[in-house]
Amino acid sequence: MIYLKTEEEIGLLRENNILVSQALAEVGRHIKPGVTTKQLDKIAEDFIRSHGATPAFLGYQGYPASACISVNEQVVHGIPSDKVVIKEGDIVSVDLGTFMKGFVGDSAYTFAVGEVDPEVRQLLDVTKEALYRGTAQAKAGNRVGDISAAVQDYAESFGYGVVRELEGHGLGRKMHEAPGVPNFGMRGRGPMLKEGMVICIEPMITMGSRAVVFERDGWTVRTKDRKPAAHYEFAVAIRKDGADVLTDFSIIEQSL
Ligand code: MF3
Ligand code: CO
Repeated sequence: MIYLKTEEEIGLLRENNILVSQALAEVGRHIKPGVTTKQLDKIAEDFIRSHGATPAFLGYQGYPASACISVNEQVVHGIPSDKVVIKEGDIVSVDLGTFMKGFVGDSAYTFAVGEVDPEVRQLLDVTKEALYRGTAQAKAGNRVGDISAAVQDYAESFGYGVVRELEGHGLGRKMHEAPGVPNFGMRGRGPMLKEGMVICIEPMITMGSRAVVFERDGWTVRTKDRKPAAHYEFAVAIRKDGADVLTDFSIIEQSL
């Protein structure tokens, strides 16, 4: 069942996703060599709680932290740890969720730590651009496959891998609602996009093979070949003439 949101509900989803944007910016300011992902998780949790929300990921299907923090070859769902110490040249994907006023916020951003290899910098830029290409297709009358194909075609044109095991999703009172939003697929296929739908688009793109491994901690997804991966995610409301992006990456990028 795909829930269509009222203007008021879209407003509450925007509030949540703006708070996630601010929390991502706050975490981003603290990503420096020597910091542990556990410390970053605490910063995220404190920020979310001090702004009147609760961390949507904490306890979700037993997830043990507030943030997912995935470093280098980790794609998504990295569990914060005091053993993971950030170093110069790393890429750090931070995925955060909030729950406030009955609705969920869910967005992610991949940060570069100091000087990163130019090839890795390109991976980040292409992954973010793939998200924007998908978003450009997120309008009423199009289909989910139009988003999927736009993401896939752009990422693959650089020779990158598109992770297939995980996908975007509807967002509302629950973090994961219908429809699923794969990052690969065919134009003109899949559910029709309608005004009032809210979805998260979240490309997970790898520099090498698209094959991933699920670690034995039950959560962490990493590339099989241990080459880097990037992940950007935002929430969009579907409008008649296009996507209304509810997350604000400019809040994050102002502080980079
Ligand atoms: N942000 C992730 C998603 O889009 C959810 C994180 S999984 C959790 O599906 F368990 F940490 F919540
Ligand atoms: Co998501």
